[in-house]
Amino acid sequence: MTVAGAVAAVRERLGDLEPRVAVVLGSGLGGLAEGVPRPVRIPYQDVPGFPTPQVAGHAGELVAGELEGVPVILQSGRFHLYEGHAPDTAALAVRAFAELGVEILIVTNAAGGLQPTFRIPTLMLIADHLNLMWRNPLIGPVVEGEERFPDMAVPYDRELRELARRVAREAGIRLEEGVYAGVLGPSYETPAEIEMLRRAGADAVGMSTVPEVVAARARGVRVLGISSITNRAAGLSAEPLSHQEVLEAGRQLAADLEVVVRGVVRGL
Ligand code: HPA
Repeated sequence: MTVAGAVAAVRERLGDLEPRVAVVLGSGLGGLAEGVPRPVRIPYQDVPGFPTPQVAGHAGELVAGELEGVPVILQSGRFHLYEGHAPDTAALAVRAFAELGVEILIVTNAAGGLQPTFRIPTLMLIADHLNLMWRNPLIGPVVEGEERFPDMAVPYDRELRELARRVAREAGIRLEEGVYAGVLGPSYETPAEIEMLRRAGADAVGMSTVPEVVAARARGVRVLGISSITNRAAGLSAEPLSHQEVLEAGRQLAADLEVVVRGVVRGL
């Protein structure tokens, strides 16, 4: 793994900019990157260790600049395990952000909704997660700056969640809250799997986020996670699931998500 190489390449492009907050943008949620004035754009091919993404709706660049007056770095396009990437590739950007001095990570994703009370599409604050990927980016030798056995009792920061709730409330945006189950994918779940996840305590299911959050917590980075619940999970709707539908619903939620993320950044 090449955290040092990635950090050196990104730092050189950032110049004087020292991002405090990193935002990982999920499927169809790339709009925030367009709202950064005078952005520093760093395509993944310029960062050692960053593969070029292949999934439609995932751009493949880091965008640094100011959001609401706060220096930020946005990750537009993430590395999924289902693409064949190793967990430490999925977590590489987050490790690099931490080395660059980022203290707060905001992760967004698209997810299917399991909780029957959710009115879908909706945003959901991630309160906790289930790592059902059976992978962990911390496996192997301990990476410098990380712990062998990081505590995961509060993976998603309480204060940041409170701030996000307040921002959403004041903006009149519905923000559900629940447990995100991270699965490997890429096939969507079967109805029996959804029933199992429901019994295990999941409110939403998706194919990302967990590796990034684990790496962030191993470095003491505070995390806020927000899911765009784009569809009802398998077996809970009469319609077959498609990636197009997920992207389209993600776009519908993007404006609200942007309001929440900007409000949180402003309120830090
Ligand atoms: N399942 C898994 N991942 C997803 C879903 C889903 O229903 N929707 C968006 N990402």
